[in-house]
Amino acid sequence: MTNTEQLRTDALAAISASEHSAALEEQRVAWLGKKGRITEALKALGQAAPEERKALGAALNAVKDAIAEAIERRKAELSAAELEARLKTETLDMTLPSRAEAHGRIHPVTQVIDEITAIFAEWGFAVAEGPDIEDDDHNFTALNIPEAHPARQMHDTFYLAGGAVLRTHTSPVQIRTMRSGAPPFRVIAPGATYRCDSDQTHTPMFHQVEGFVIDRHIHMGHLKGCITEFLRAFFEMERVPVRFRPSFFPFTEPSAEVDIGCRRGRDEIVIGEGEGWLEVMGCGMVHANVLRNCGIDPDEWQGFAFGLGVERLAMLKYGIPDLRDFFESDARWLKHYGFSPLHIPTVYGGL
Ligand code: PHE
Repeated sequence: MTNTEQLRTDALAAISASEHSAALEEQRVAWLGKKGRITEALKALGQAAPEERKALGAALNAVKDAIAEAIERRKAELSAAELEARLKTETLDMTLPSRAEAHGRIHPVTQVIDEITAIFAEWGFAVAEGPDIEDDDHNFTALNIPEAHPARQMHDTFYLAGGAVLRTHTSPVQIRTMRSGAPPFRVIAPGATYRCDSDQTHTPMFHQVEGFVIDRHIHMGHLKGCITEFLRAFFEMERVPVRFRPSFFPFTEPSAEVDIGCRRGRDEIVIGEGEGWLEVMGCGMVHANVLRNCGIDPDEWQGFAFGLGVERLAMLKYGIPDLRDFFESDARWLKHYGFSPLHIPTVYGGL
């Protein structure tokens, strides 16, 4: 018995004398390891006299538990002390940037929407927004596209469960704005639009900026002047090669599409050169039925509207050859075509 108590005293003394975790580990091996003293003593139990064996075994196991517990306690003390010591020597300046090389860039779509907004804001246009998920009425019916009208097929619509659609254009914002206010209106509405279509000049999601002016005595001359002036300001060019081509939209009458003269190569697109044209927007005089659908008297109020393609304007202005790259999320592309987050486009400061 005294022998067992001696083992306990010796072991606990050695454990509390261990000054670091490596020394403590040595003690664990020396007492509880495969060849440790307690392990050996337990193995030797078989040689003890049968009447002593039970009591001796119980005593040895108690010592073994006490040693294991003492080691755990000492281990916790040592690691707390070691952490404390490490924290004293290590310093970390939390005010430094975490990754000095990381520079965010503004995506060309965001940049171009900001540029367009800056130009129209200068002319007193307000900015409106509408939901990406639209109902049939706002996206079609109220815009003078009745059910079964062939124009619905032209829209390559994504239909959602329950009859909702992903808006195929920003024109539904015309309806929302006119129904919630009173004329005159002078509004632009930027946002994402969706069509089930994909090739070098079409992606299933793209962006438009809708614009419309409703006032008394508005005519096609205002439309043409507004769009031409906008394109001159946007491209920062005195003479932009632009053509108005007669077209059809159910919500405008008359209607036109606007093309910009450009040359398209495989790796580049250059505005104002060569023979090619790129369509950048649809426009026209707001149809009397659309005004009526919004409770506006077409004999008193007239207006024009346009819907322009943001990515296409970005491609032309910044020489980006392929539309699909806009949505590849390739950091190298964004580094090359992106814009400084510190440059805010304004008409007076430059776009
Ligand atoms: N909503 C039309 C489209 O997406 C564009 C447009 C807007 C045409 C406003 C005329 C007037 O194709």
